[in-house]
Amino acid sequence: MNLTDKTVLITGGASGIGYATVQDFLGQQANVVVADIDKRREKQWYEKKIMTGCTLCKRTSQTKLPASTQLNRYTFGGLDVLINNAGIEIVAPIHEMELRDWNKVLQVNLTGMFLMSKHALKHMLAAGKGNIINTCSVGGLVAWPDIPAYNATKGGVLQLTKSMAVDYAKHQIRVNCVCPGIIDTPLNEKSFLENNEGTLEEIKKEKAKVNPLLRLGKPEEIANVMLFLASDLSSYMTGSAITADGGYTAQ
Ligand SMILES: NC(=O)c1ccc[n+]([C@@H]2O[C@H](COP(=O)([O-])OP(=O)(O)OC[C@H]3O[C@@H](n4cnc5c(N)ncnc54)[C@H](O)[C@@H]3O)[C@@H](O)[C@H]2O)c1
Repeated sequence: MNLTDKTVLITGGASGIGYATVQDFLGQQANVVVADIDKRREKQWYEKKIMTGCTLCKRTSQTKLPASTQLNRYTFGGLDVLINNAGIEIVAPIHEMELRDWNKVLQVNLTGMFLMSKHALKHMLAAGKGNIINTCSVGGLVAWPDIPAYNATKGGVLQLTKSMAVDYAKHQIRVNCVCPGIIDTPLNEKSFLENNEGTLEEIKKEKAKVNPLLRLGKPEEIANVMLFLASDLSSYMTGSAITADGGYTAQ
C-alpha cells in the first residue's frame, strides 16, 4: 500500500465510514488526523485509548476550517492524503424543506469539502504531489427518494471531484471519489427509524432487499476502497468515481 508515515486527514472520522477508514489507515501505519465535530468520540479515544495510533484527533468542523496555519500544525506541515468524508442527510422533500436545512446540507456536504480541499491543496501544490478522496454516494448518480438536498450535494461532489482532478493532474495531485450504496452506519440508523415503521433490525432487513447482494454494506467495505484510492495501487486513476453499492445502480 505504501502508506507508512503518510499523513492522512480524514473528516467525519468519528463515526461510520470515517471511523472504519481511520482504523484502516492506522493499520497501514499512516499518521491519521481526524477532523470531526463529535466530542463524545474524541473523549472515548483519549480515555479508553481505542485509537492509540491516532497521532492527532481534533474536534474540528469542516465548515469552520481552522486557518491554514492551524491545519499546518495538525498535519506536521505536510499532508499526503485528504479524505473529505463528513456528510449529513436531512429527510424532506423540497416543498417541505426549510431554507436553513437546505443550507445546512450544502454547507457540510459541499462547502466543507471545498474549504478542506482549498487549504489542503496549498500543502499539496507546495509538495508537488497529493491525493484527495471524496465520499460521494449513489445519491450523486441516481436519486434517493425524499433527500433532494443530499442528492444535489452528492451530484455536486461528483463534479467537484472531476473538476479538481482535471485542474491538479499537472501537479501530480490525484482526486477521486467513492460512491457508497446503503451502508450500515449511524447516519442511516437515525433516518431509518424516523422514516419507517418497525424495529431497526426489521427496517434494515427490508432495506437490504433493494440491493442485488441482498445485504447492507459495512463501513469497512468503503474504507477498503479509500485505502485503494490512497495507495499507489490506483496510481493511474484520477477523476474516477468508484461505486460500492451491492449492485444497486447496476439494476
Ligand atoms: N451510510 C450510508 O449509507 C452512506 C451512503 C452513501 C454515502 N455516504 C456518505 O458517507 C459519509 C460518511 O457517512 P456515514 O454514514 O459514515 O455517517 P455518520 O453519521 O456515521 O458519520 C458522519 C461523521 O461526520 C461528522 N460530521 C458531521 N458534520 C461535520 C462537520 N461539519 N465537520 C466535521 N465532521 C462532521 C459526524 O460527527 C460523524 O462523525 C457521508 O459523506 C455520507 O454522505 C453514506
